[in-house]
Amino acid sequence: MREINLTTKIAVYLLEECSEVEKNLIEAAKSATKRAYAPYSGFSVGAAVLLANGEIMTGNNQENAAYPSGLCAERTTVFFSNAAYPDQKIEAIAVAAWHKGQFTSDAITPCGACRQVLLETENRFGTPMRVLMYSDQGVYVVDSVKDLLPLSFGDEMLK
Ligand code: THU
Repeated sequence: MREINLTTKIAVYLLEECSEVEKNLIEAAKSATKRAYAPYSGFSVGAAVLLANGEIMTGNNQENAAYPSGLCAERTTVFFSNAAYPDQKIEAIAVAAWHKGQFTSDAITPCGACRQVLLETENRFGTPMRVLMYSDQGVYVVDSVKDLLPLSFGDEMLK
């Protein structure tokens, strides 16, 4: 028997330690929570992506009475961005969540399905995507989606 140990380094920043570009991206994700459609969970998530041309696109979770038909903020935003600008690399994504009248005090981390889609997007553009996960206590940051999805399944397996 042998063991494989996987480690993930997560940087935790105070908001004021983030760059101006990152602060703007986080602000965009926070404002996007206000436009979420989350009548069933009451958990409003906003996401904002930074494109290589400097543009920011935002999205949020979109729920449905048939629960599985809804979509998380991260996928809504990435699909929106890729649909509008298929050739623009996504350099970073920020995520924030509003619940019970405040931004969460635990960093909002993407679900498994969103991690898979974010990974494909990173692979598609061939550039690491920084992921900024906001909480009102600090911001978790990883430099690549790969850090959030060890032992991932990706397009390289299909070659
Ligand atoms: N949700 C997101 O939009 N992103 C996440 O990272 C976690 C969960 C949504 C899905 C659902 O609309 C609500 O939050 C509660 O799970």
